[in-house]
Amino acid sequence: MSVAPTHRERPGVVDLIRAAGAGRAHLYAVQEGSPSAAPAAGAGSIAVAEIPSVVSAGLQVPTLDGGTVEYANFDHGASTPAFTAVKVAVDTATRTYSSVHRGKGWASHVSSAWYEAAREEVAAFIGARDGDSVIFTRNTTDSFNLLARALPRDTVVFVFSTDHHATILPWAARRTVRLEVPGSPQDAEILLDEALRTRRATNRLVVLTGASNVTGELWPVAALTAIARRHGARVALDAAQLAPHAPVDLAALDVDYLAFSGHKLYAPYGTGVLAGRSDWLDAAAPYLAGGGATAAVTPESTTWHTGAARHEGGSPNVLGAVALAAACATIRRSRRAIEAHEARLGARLSEGLRAIDGVRTYSIFGDTHERVAVVTFTLDGLDSGLVAAALSAEHGIGVRDGKFCAHILVDALLEERPYAASVPTTAVRVSAGLGNTDAHVERLVSAVADLVANGPRAAYEIAEGRGWVPVEDTRDVEPPLPW
Ligand SMILES: Cc1ncc(COP(=O)(O)O)c(C=O)c1O
Repeated sequence: MSVAPTHRERPGVVDLIRAAGAGRAHLYAVQEGSPSAAPAAGAGSIAVAEIPSVVSAGLQVPTLDGGTVEYANFDHGASTPAFTAVKVAVDTATRTYSSVHRGKGWASHVSSAWYEAAREEVAAFIGARDGDSVIFTRNTTDSFNLLARALPRDTVVFVFSTDHHATILPWAARRTVRLEVPGSPQDAEILLDEALRTRRATNRLVVLTGASNVTGELWPVAALTAIARRHGARVALDAAQLAPHAPVDLAALDVDYLAFSGHKLYAPYGTGVLAGRSDWLDAAAPYLAGGGATAAVTPESTTWHTGAARHEGGSPNVLGAVALAAACATIRRSRRAIEAHEARLGARLSEGLRAIDGVRTYSIFGDTHERVAVVTFTLDGLDSGLVAAALSAEHGIGVRDGKFCAHILVDALLEERPYAASVPTTAVRVSAGLGNTDAHVERLVSAVADLVANGPRAAYEIAEGRGWVPVEDTRDVEPPLPW
């Protein structure tokens, strides 16, 4: 396997800092000519014609015939590759990596400044309002668990059963109202309205999803938020699948909280975000009690910080924050190019797969509903795990099979459409992104057509703990360790 990063050698960060002289702009310097050569945070108006590159571009993977092929990664919905710009920013920040908020050395000063600048960049990316907290977490799951711990005790939470487990499960079961799988956006509005009418409480939180991780469909966030507002409820938005593809703006969407993950946003360095209104967050017990979250500790008492620090106890993930900020800045600069690229890939994926007899695609709101570049399907008579294994082993294509941590929705979608030969219990998901080319999409569509027509070329069996695997695997299935 080979990965060819495209960035050039750059001057050391300290050189950059010195060269730039006084002022803050030098803190954002990235080497000239890199894909991420960047303006300072907040400058969003520079148009970049090309889509941002990813470090895995051109990755070669082995196939069963003994050859190699360029990896076609259709699993962006699970995790994305890193942007080249993100790797460059992380490499730069690694040079000066040092203690944050504590050390007095110059490298500590730089790391601390970059950590807080990263927060500002993320805040700009999500349209955070004055007074909103922008808290670095590990991922969306962590963000919602934090929020669940910060809710006033009597809060009743309303959430659609269609959502990802990270969005359904963190809330106290007794005070959670699970809304049914709706058949249409209007149905979703009626379900929420009725639930809010009947289940009253002083504090109520409606948890919505921007884009379904199963079907990619966009949820009617504006309409549902308006209903929540009419009933005096707060709104939290799961933007894990939306933020990589479309603008998410706390102020414009009028939502109270927003969560997303860096590893789904081309910044796979262990950082996520919870952002939103600070009153409940500042009143809650710290999520991670310990150093960094405290303003003062005496034998008798502890005074906790307010703001993001209250919930970021322990040493923060500076490199993860820098990575996420670099990804946000990169996306903001390339927004139009990204949207055009993904719209083209998504349209061709849907159209190509739907045109194959024997492919069944799934949606909550109907095939023509607006969506990000995700298609979930089953093949008549072929187990989804076998489909995924054959696509990988024979065609170098990475997809996801299973229920995608959204069991209730997948069960509902599959059971709605039983068909003669067998009813599948799992599905295949293809999720496109910036690691994909038009050629990848064509390869996927013809590989699926070939599977439908001829079945897998090789023999497969189910191996304990590994699912479907080729009976004879000529590939080096134990890759050498990278360290
Ligand atoms: C819509 C949605 N919400 C939440 C999550 C959880 O994200 P993470 O695994 O990064 O915590 C996912 C992950 O797939 C998702 O797709």
